[in-house]
Amino acid sequence: MWRKLFLAACVLLALCHFSEARRKTRVDNCIGRCNNVVNPSALCQCNPRCHEFSNCCRDKVSRCGPAPTQSPSPGSNATFAELSQFFTTLWGSDTNSVNITVNYQGKTNSSNKADMAPQPLFRELPKKICDKTTYKTFFVLLDNYNHRVGQSEDRLQVEKNEENEFLNAILSTTVMAKTHEFLKRKGLVPFSKNGFKNKLREMWFNTYSRSGGTQDTSGFEHVFVGELKHGSVSGLHSWLQFYNEERYNRLNYMGWIYKKKHGILGLKFKWLNKIKPISTIQVGPSPEFDIAVLSTCFLVNPPRGNCQFKIGKDKLTIKVYKVNGSPTKIGSAFLQ
Ligand SMILES: *[C@@H]1O[C@H](CO)[C@@H](O)[C@H](O)[C@H]1NC(C)=O
Ligand SMILES: *[C@@H]1O[C@H](CO)[C@@H](O)[C@H](O)[C@H]1NC(C)=O
Ligand SMILES: *[C@@H]1O[C@H](CO)[C@@H](O)[C@H](O)[C@H]1NC(C)=O
Repeated sequence: MWRKLFLAACVLLALCHFSEARRKTRVDNCIGRCNNVVNPSALCQCNPRCHEFSNCCRDKVSRCGPAPTQSPSPGSNATFAELSQFFTTLWGSDTNSVNITVNYQGKTNSSNKADMAPQPLFRELPKKICDKTTYKTFFVLLDNYNHRVGQSEDRLQVEKNEENEFLNAILSTTVMAKTHEFLKRKGLVPFSKNGFKNKLREMWFNTYSRSGGTQDTSGFEHVFVGELKHGSVSGLHSWLQFYNEERYNRLNYMGWIYKKKHGILGLKFKWLNKIKPISTIQVGPSPEFDIAVLSTCFLVNPPRGNCQFKIGKDKLTIKVYKVNGSPTKIGSAFLQ
């Protein structure tokens, strides 16, 4: 038996030695290899996707250029099953979410003029949540906007810096790291973290016109903050903005219309003296979770803008709209 083992060891050693010798002759640089070809027998690769697979040669960037900012090959749009699996995982990873009890009060409907809720919907937020970086940097953004459609946004440098701080904060969360992975695999976003950040900035913060002229809006303003257009309220789907506006007495909660799982709430409210007869908010998720889910739905380009998926057993739809003539920007995105 010992003899057999000894022989086996010799065979193994020989094999190892042999492959070691062979490896020495294998290509380990990008000289003459800056193209789309993968060479399986080379030690490392020089094609544009090597960044994605973490197998680039050391001289890849200096010889062949940096990682592509756009995906080199188009991925495919996500299926219902893929989105369901991904969002269910993401829901479970949202460690910055808040478990908060709201004060529902009376039930209402979209045509009821009466205020069925004398009290605010929200009480105080837990202090430990307000101290989290993604919440802090989110709240700072909320006063950057001119709510009126038709009046231009100034978007000062100090505001751009605040956007940048917020993007940095969310990009260092697990929720956004997982989202980047998912969207990279789909070929829908740049591979680098910085490229991904620029894509998010373009989608959410870069301004466009909602009135056929002046740069009066952005995806973030519409979806998270809310706007006044022709005297009525549009957007404002963020529960944190809802909370913020209640706190400053600019928003009056008027009653709930429907309640669903995962904190989803159909409701009626008056903001800056204008009634929104029916709207939806989702109470509890972190700002990074909202950005992750809405961005993903927007980027997978669902049929007729209906992004459908399940979280656990519950079927949900997020409606997304592109901007006419500016398809890289979010027109609107909200839970139905
Ligand atoms: C997603 O779907 C749209 C519409 O079917 C298609 O035009 C687009 O190329 C797809 N995107 C990717 C990255 O495959
Ligand atoms: C949230 O809080 C409520 C009331 O305090 C509690 O009953 C519930 O179990 C909590 N849920 C989670 C997921 O922690
Ligand atoms: C809406 O609420 C008002 C006041 O409670 C009620 O009279 C009306 O019938 C309701 N409408 C619908 C469609 O439920």
